[in-house]
This record gives sequence, structure tokens and C-alpha cells, in this order.
Amino acid sequence: MSAPSLPDFAARHIGPRESDVAEMLSVVGRPSLDALCDAAVPGAIRMTGALDVEAATSELAVLEELRELAGRNQVLTSMIGLGYYGTITPPVIQRNVLESPAWYTAYTPYQPEISQGRLEALLNFQTMVSDLTALSVSGASLLDEATAAAEAMTLMRRTSKAPDGAVVVLDEALFPQTRAVIETRARPLGIAVAVADLTQVSTAQELRAAAGDRDVFGVVVQYPAADGLIHDWSALARAAHDAGALVTAAADLLALTLLTPPGEWGADVAVGTTQRFGVPMAFGGPHAGYMAVRTGLERSLPGRLVGVSVDSAGAQAYRLALQTREQHIRRDRATSNICTAQVLLAVMASMYAVYHGPDGLRRIAGRVHATARDLAEQLAARGAEVAQGHWFDTLRVSVPGRADDVVAAAVEAGVNIWRHDADTVLVSVDETTDPGEVAAVASAFGPGSTDGQEGVVDSSTTAPAEPSWPEALVRTSEYLTHPVFHAHRSETAMLRYLRRLSDRDFALDRGMIPLGSCTMKLNATTEMAAITWPEFAGLHPFAPDDQTEGIRDLVAQLSDWLCEITGYDAVSLQPNAGSQGELAGLLAIRGYHDARGDHERTICLIPSSAHGTNAASAVMAGMKVVVVKTDSITGNVDMDDLKHKIVEHEERLAAIMVTYPSTHGVYEDTISDLCAMVHDAGGQVYVDGANLNALVGLAQPGRFGADVSHLNLHKTFCIPHGGGGPGVGPVSVREHLAPHLPNHPLAPAAGPESGVGPVSAAPYGSAGILPISWAYVRLMGGAGLARATQVAVLNANYVAARLRDHYPVLYSGHDGIVAHECILDLRQLTKDTGVSVDDVAKRLIDYGFHAPTMSFPVAGTLMVEPTESEDKGEIDRFCDAMIAIRREIDEAVAGDGVESSVLRHAPHTSATLVGEWDRSYDRASAVFPGDVEPADKYWPPVGRIDGAYGDRNLVCSCPSPEELAAL
Ligand SMILES: Cc1ncc(COP(=O)(O)O)c(C=O)c1O
Repeated sequence: MSAPSLPDFAARHIGPRESDVAEMLSVVGRPSLDALCDAAVPGAIRMTGALDVEAATSELAVLEELRELAGRNQVLTSMIGLGYYGTITPPVIQRNVLESPAWYTAYTPYQPEISQGRLEALLNFQTMVSDLTALSVSGASLLDEATAAAEAMTLMRRTSKAPDGAVVVLDEALFPQTRAVIETRARPLGIAVAVADLTQVSTAQELRAAAGDRDVFGVVVQYPAADGLIHDWSALARAAHDAGALVTAAADLLALTLLTPPGEWGADVAVGTTQRFGVPMAFGGPHAGYMAVRTGLERSLPGRLVGVSVDSAGAQAYRLALQTREQHIRRDRATSNICTAQVLLAVMASMYAVYHGPDGLRRIAGRVHATARDLAEQLAARGAEVAQGHWFDTLRVSVPGRADDVVAAAVEAGVNIWRHDADTVLVSVDETTDPGEVAAVASAFGPGSTDGQEGVVDSSTTAPAEPSWPEALVRTSEYLTHPVFHAHRSETAMLRYLRRLSDRDFALDRGMIPLGSCTMKLNATTEMAAITWPEFAGLHPFAPDDQTEGIRDLVAQLSDWLCEITGYDAVSLQPNAGSQGELAGLLAIRGYHDARGDHERTICLIPSSAHGTNAASAVMAGMKVVVVKTDSITGNVDMDDLKHKIVEHEERLAAIMVTYPSTHGVYEDTISDLCAMVHDAGGQVYVDGANLNALVGLAQPGRFGADVSHLNLHKTFCIPHGGGGPGVGPVSVREHLAPHLPNHPLAPAAGPESGVGPVSAAPYGSAGILPISWAYVRLMGGAGLARATQVAVLNANYVAARLRDHYPVLYSGHDGIVAHECILDLRQLTKDTGVSVDDVAKRLIDYGFHAPTMSFPVAGTLMVEPTESEDKGEIDRFCDAMIAIRREIDEAVAGDGVESSVLRHAPHTSATLVGEWDRSYDRASAVFPGDVEPADKYWPPVGRIDGAYGDRNLVCSCPSPEELAAL
């Protein structure tokens, strides 16, 4: 592999220069990158040949190829609806959030002191959802509407007192993809799903009857329904509560500006998507799903919740609340496996609400409704029969025997509508629909008096209409009353608000984010370019296949490359986070065993060091988790314990789930034996591929014994982390598992007929960001990818070599070599001095760094992953800071003690410098330690945050003045 001819881009993506590599190798004590990797990666799993992926000639050439793919998509006006609508992304938000690295390169706000900007934006999101649904607490985003509904199902099961065996009842007019995802998720949990027309149900007895004479723990309705009709669900809600069941409304937030919100008619939970709040359809995603719950259910919410707390100076500060719900702590008892969510998209949606305010949103909704009324009139004039009842934006139109013809005629007129069945079509309008498009789609239903009026007409001139439904369902309550939804109406004000918030945050555009297990590498500008092109961003996920050839070819090519890279035979790009890839992979394993009649194989072995999502996903796949020990000295899977557990559970063994290289950052030698032992016992091997950045071009899980892996494209394949999402978690499998990959009821080509059902709302998940990973692979080629892996390993070993004398490196493989990350062990130091990992993490902020991963996978440690993209200068700056902090620890212990030290008071805000200074250290060492240049200083906006305080005094929406005063 030495001296391959590398594409030009590789030298941009990979941080260290050639001369640096030589110098770093000498510090690590290896003569070459090849020698380092030969020593690091066990020979038994090494690839023999090179990756067969050709690089493009240049960044311009890649953009040309992407344009060619984009050109093979055809973007028609979409009136398909079903949860995906045209929307206008305010350009100030597109440019300054979606296209701004200050927002898209941030990590999940685990270090809240340096994440106040995105935490405020997420608090706005929570406030927006909570206000619009009239439910007291909203989470900070879920993956999409369908998975949010599935999460609501399990939340209702956990909290309802209905007996075991009770069922969930779905109204028959739920979006089809939502129903299908709920069914996929219910099946492995043994939850029975009933589907019924719930519009006439008003007593507990009727509900029971609708459920096939069974007890009911939960009900899910669409509001407005999938066919556009608005129903008053209040009687159903009373009936459900009488029956001991909870009620979830899958609700359209734009409609809720005019419609009585679910919280006011008795729903316990509301879920949905925030896509139409300024986030492009993007062939299905990413978009932020949401969930809000009534008081009393907040501790059951899946995903992340932002709350208000105070910092060390008593000032208001935001942080993630109720962190004990994280899968890392609760593991197989976690509420859900959600880890990466949709933060960037939630920020966009929240800013759309901030920019428009309540009056603006109401005006948009009123115009959408007016457009729908206009369409209804035009259809009536053509003799088409619009369904009786009340609607907001979607019309169900009866066209007996003519649905296919009408859909085809609409396409001719430049509009996609939805074929509901042979006799019925659905037509949805949105804020982008102009009168010309209304006339165009109307013409598809037959001749009429407005023919010939098509053309571009400004939809913003349409006068908003008042609700046309019964008074009981007309919203009267206020929403978005907080000042933030009124203060940023001019573009100047909005621009400055966005800048003010992003300036508070530390993202990759400021410096290294050395988070172990997170692979915070370069998200190159060229890779990002195509995601906002209308040919990708404007596609509805259920648009006809002949309009989406370009994006589907891109999906196919990326899938082929991922198979080549991983050594697997098939891949599904549908899962929209690593956690969902895990679930899909485990469902494939279950499907495989079931197909062979091995129904009792439900035990999943998971090493104690595994990422928390692994155990949570196994439970969601209906498996029982059995923990395998890791060796306390080496950190490797304890092979004796594994042997013992395999024997103990041989008959019921479904799988083992291991991460490779391990979450300890080590290439374990025993991986081949481990695979063989599990296979011999009839189990399947799941290799968590989140650490693939240490394998690409060096070893292929699909060839060294694994049966299935999920990958995190938002790590290894350069999709930016977005402050906590989006993500893409493809699941890759060997041939025998391919029949059990996810599929989709509305897109037969998206998966095998025999598949396990959809795990995401859209057929190809978050397809809109796949051009990023496509461009990365195309730019790097096989040689560039392999080189990146080698340098990632070099960078980690360089950090280990430089820091080993100051902080012990906890685990390593042969000759002390680590993989792509290393764990610094602070436990003894903490015991001896009282300085915790928290102290070091917060002090790093003063030095201008994001902390490494804290206390995962081992409590009391810091895990550092520099990635290949960081150059030697930045890595040295980090190592120097860590060494200087080590010195500060010694000085504190020798001096006035840790309690009054610069470490315990970190991070230091600019506000701490004014007024009396009674610290045991001077101001300059507080804020300009080491080589920190005053001119380049990153100032944390708040001091150390008291998390426990916020959990005791839970405030999860924008605080009112009274709440602020009480803090
Ligand atoms: C080892 C490992 N597995 C699984 C996951 C879950 O991925 P996601 O956050 O995309 O759900 C992570 C995320 O950090 C991880 O590090």
C-alpha cells in the first residue's frame, strides 16, 4: 500500500502533510504508515487487495458528475402530501443554518457550556412544538414522523396500565408509511396492532370492539387524517381514557395554527414532522420529527430534551435535561435507542417559526387553506367530487375508475398527485402552490372554464382564508407568545440572531473536536454542495420512479461502493441513524432465524463495553440481552466468559453484537475466533460499524466473519453531525440476510419483497444527504480512503505517544498500538487529587478545545479520536493543552488545593474577569492559558452548569419571566 497515487482531494481531506507524517511516525516509533498498520491490524483480518473504487479527477469533476445525476431527476410540482410538502426555506436560514459550518459541524451538545447557541435554538423548537400541540413538554427532535409514532406506541405501552396482551389501535386514515413503521416496530415486541375506522368511536366499548374485542393500551390518529379530513377526536379521546388507553395524535403543525390542538381535545401525545417549516422534502429527509407529551409523561419521552438550568454564577444556562435516560446508563432498560436525532433540521424549523412568528405562520396556513378552497371550487366546476367533510390542505377526490388517468394527466400538467386507489386521488397544496398550479392540476380532472390559465402566479398574493370547519375545531388559544417569536422579523435581525447563537458554540469550524467514537472529521465544502440543489432537495419521496432516476442511481452507486468497502453483499440506506441501522440489522437476524424455524433464537450477547444503543436496539428487536465481560487488564472481550455464555445459551443464541475495532479503541486479535465460536453455535455476528474509520481499506467486516453491520455515514463518510443529527445508518449484510433487509410499502424497489418492513418513513431514509457521502467516496477513491484510515490510526497513536507519560493510555493492542482512538485513564489521578474528567473537560474549554468523550466506554476516562483530518499543528496544540492541564493539576495539589483551583472553576467566562478577583490564580492564567492568543480566544458564554439543579426544576420551553426569576 506504500506510495499509492493519491487523488488531489486526499491531501485536502487528510490533515498531516507528508513531512509531518514522517515526524509523527518517528514519535510513534514506526518506520512507515504501512508498518504501523501492519502491526496494528491483525493479519488474519487484513484485506489482501486494494479497494476497487476509482477516484474522480478533481472536485470540479465530482460536481459535474453530481450535476449529471441531478439532471436525471425531474422535479414536478408536488401535490402528493402524505407528510411531505413544498415549503419555502427562508434564504437567510438556508445560507446561515443549513449551509453554515458553524451550525452543521457542531456535535451533540454534551458539553453544554460550549453549545448554548444550539441549545437555545432547540429550546425554541421545543417551545414551538409544545405551544402548537398544546402539550406541556416537547423533546428536542426525533428521526421522522413514522418513527416518532412508533416511539409513541412504546411510550403508551410503558405508561398505560392496560393488561399484557392489550393492543394499539391505529385509525385507518393514518399515513401508510407511519402505519407500516409502527407494524415493523410492534412485531418483534409482540404488540398486536389493530387498524380500524375510529371516526365513529365514542365509548370504551366501541373502542374495544374496534380492537377486535381486545384491551387497548393506545390509540393513534392522524390530524388532519391522511385523506385530508378533519375529525373531532375528543369523544374518541374520552373513550380511550375510559378504557385505560392513551391517545397519540400524529398532527400537522401548520394546520395546528388554525385547528384546535391535540392537547385541548384530550390527546396525551402528539407526534409528527416539522418538514413543512422550511425544510426541503429532499426525497424523504432528513427532517426533524417531533414528540410532545402531557404533564406526567415527560420522564418517558424518548430522545433528547433540552432544559434550563443555572451556571456557576447563577446565570441562566441550557443543557440536556434528564440525562439519566440516555441509553448509556439505562442500556437494555432505555426508553428507546435514539441517539443521533435531527438537530440541524430542528434548528431550521424552529428558526422558520422565529422568523415568521405566530401571525406569519397563521397567515401561511390561511393562504394554504385558501388555495385548497380555490382548488375545491375549480374541481367542483369540472364535476369532480371532493369528499364531504372538512379539510385544511388536502382534498380527497372521487374519480371512479379514472385515478390512473387523472394522475397521468396531472403529470402531463407538471404536477404529481397521489393515487389513493383506482377510484380516488388525493391532492395536497402547500405554501408554494400558486394559482397557476391550481389551475394546472384542476385541468387533469377534465375540461373546465379556467383552462389555459396555468402559469407562474405569485402565491403570496393569495388572501388567507379563515377556517371552514366547525367552531369546536377552530383554534382559539394563543401560541408562540414568547418574545423570541416576535423579535427577529427583519432579515437583519434574523441574521444577527443566527450569528449571535452560532458564535456561542464551538463547532469544527473553530477547532478540533476530539470526541472518541464520534469521528468528527472534515465535512468538505464540495461534499456539501449538492444537498440544496433543487433537483435533489425538491423531490417528494413518493414521486414516480421515472422522475427520480438520478437520485436512485446515486443510491445504487453508493450502495455498491459501501459493499466494496465493507465486503458485504447488500446494503439498505433506509435507516436514518446508526441506532436505526442497528435495529434493522437485528431485525434481519431475527428474520433469518425465523425463516429457518429457529423462533426461539432471541438471545443477543453484548460485551459490557458496547455502546448503549446496542442493548437498547436488541430489546427493540425483541431480543434478550446477555452481557459478556471484558477483560479488566486488556479491555478485550473475555473469551472464557464468551465461551461460557455461548454454551449456556447455545439453543437460544441469536447473535453477538460487537464493535470493531472495539469501543476501547483496540483491534482485538480474537475477532476471528469470536466469529467462528458464535457461528458454530448457530448465532449471527453483528459488527457495529460505527468505528469503520479504522477499517476502510484495511479490513472488511463482511469478509472477516461478520454477517451484518451498520455504518454511520455521519462519521466515516463525512455527513456532518449537525449538532446531533442528521445521520444515516445504512445496514450492510451478507447474502443470506439480504432477504430480510428493510423495504417500503410505497416503493417496491427500495428493498426485498421478503423484507422486515420499513424502519424509516421514507423509502431511502435521509436520501437528501447521500450526495455528501457519494462525493466523499468519489473524491477519495480506494487509495485515498485507505490512506485516510492509515492517517487516522497514525494520529491516534501520535496522541497516545505524546500523552502517555502524562495520562496512562488505558488499553492498547500489540506493542502499545491503539486503533483510531485512545482512552486516557484519569481514574487514579482522580483518586489521588480529586480532579475529575469533568474538571479537565471544562478546563480544555479555556484552552479553546472541545473535550474528548467523557466516561465512555469507561467511567473516569477521556477517549480521544483525532481523525485523519486534523493536522499535526492542531493535534500538537491539543496535546500541549492536555500536558499543561496535567501540570496545573500538580500545581493545584501542591498549592492551595483543587477546590479553589483554576480547574474546578473552569470554564472561565469574560464576565468572571470583571469585579473583585479573589481567586488563588491570576486572571491571565484563567482565560489565556498556554498559547491561547487573546485575539483568537473562544469565550464560553456561561460558566460550569449545574445539571442536577435543572433536573430538579425542570423547565423545557422558553422560560417566562416568572420562571426566570425563580431560577
Ligand atoms: C459505537 C457506536 N455504535 C452506535 C452508535 C449510534 O449511532 P447513532 O448516534 O447514529 O444512532 C454510536 C454513536 O455514537 C456509536 O459510537
